[in-house]
Amino acid sequence: VPSGSVLITGANRGIGWATAVALASAGLDLVLACRHLSSAEEARSRLGAGATHGRIEARELDLASLASIRRFAAGCEADGLRIGTLINNAGVLAEDFALSEDGFELSMAVNYLGPFLLTRLLLPAFSKAGGLVINTCSSAFRIGRLPHSFGEELRMGWHPIRAYADSKLALLMFSIELSRRLSRLPIKVLAVDPGIVSTGMISLHKWFDPLTDALFRPLIQTEAQGARGSIAMTLSTDGEFSSGGYYRGRRSIVVPRRARKADKLEGLWSITESALGVEGWLDGHP
Ligand SMILES: NC(=O)c1ccc[n+]([C@@H]2O[C@H](COP(=O)([O-])OP(=O)(O)OC[C@H]3O[C@@H](n4cnc5c(N)ncnc54)[C@H](OP(=O)(O)O)[C@@H]3O)[C@@H](O)[C@H]2O)c1
Repeated sequence: VPSGSVLITGANRGIGWATAVALASAGLDLVLACRHLSSAEEARSRLGAGATHGRIEARELDLASLASIRRFAAGCEADGLRIGTLINNAGVLAEDFALSEDGFELSMAVNYLGPFLLTRLLLPAFSKAGGLVINTCSSAFRIGRLPHSFGEELRMGWHPIRAYADSKLALLMFSIELSRRLSRLPIKVLAVDPGIVSTGMISLHKWFDPLTDALFRPLIQTEAQGARGSIAMTLSTDGEFSSGGYYRGRRSIVVPRRARKADKLEGLWSITESALGVEGWLDGHP
């Protein structure tokens, strides 16, 4: 287990909360990074009521706001926070087309651009001995299309599940490309698919018609089951997970070639850097 805290985004409910509960009871130091400071603090006191041994911090992080992400990273730096594991868990299934305060389509902002910038800004806080980045993806990526832009242009023909799928495809491709760019550093990058989990995110009628509901219901897992992959990755000590890999639980998932092509990975990386105004990150591959 990398030394340093485990930072979990969206730790106040759903899969992020189940992950926090398990890692707190394993005695790890945690940072609960939540959209509202009040929900992070509330999660910290709920955790404190259980058997925790590590230090639990509550911090505010709104992934739909670049300013909030920058404030968050600056706060971590000022406090000298050492990170061992970053779990990019927070995500949104947006109901309507909306733009973030920075002019990005909301699912892209929260599910992809936010984690990209957050990871970039936090990388210096990783302990030199090694670290782990876990990106929470989704099998929805299979119907995702490679984005060419992130803002107002996406309004035409916008659909909630397509937009979600596109953002998760982008996140998975980021995970693969980041792992390649970090290959000479002792930082592992893993993508995890929680499976279909009964959380606030999937109200069944939004995702499925009644027939598919009947077919899929037996596959639906509890939050604790959905968190198993991230928990196993965080606690793993034996190299069972390979950097750049995509897993459901402990099982490796083959990523289709279209999401692994070097030119596509680099193209997405470069338009993302321009959109975020952070050009040149990890160019020349350390
Ligand atoms: N549930 C599934 O079947 C499923 C399947 C595949 C992948 N996933 C992925 O698993 C992850 C966790 O999902 P979940 O099912 O646990 O969903 P959830 O119960 O809806 O929880 C989502 C979490 O993300 C946070 N969040 C949303 N927008 C945010 C923002 N702008 N800034 C910071 N935090 C924000 C939420 O905070 P608030 O409480 O403030 O809203 C909440 O803590 C997501 O990335 C999701 O895409 C879920």
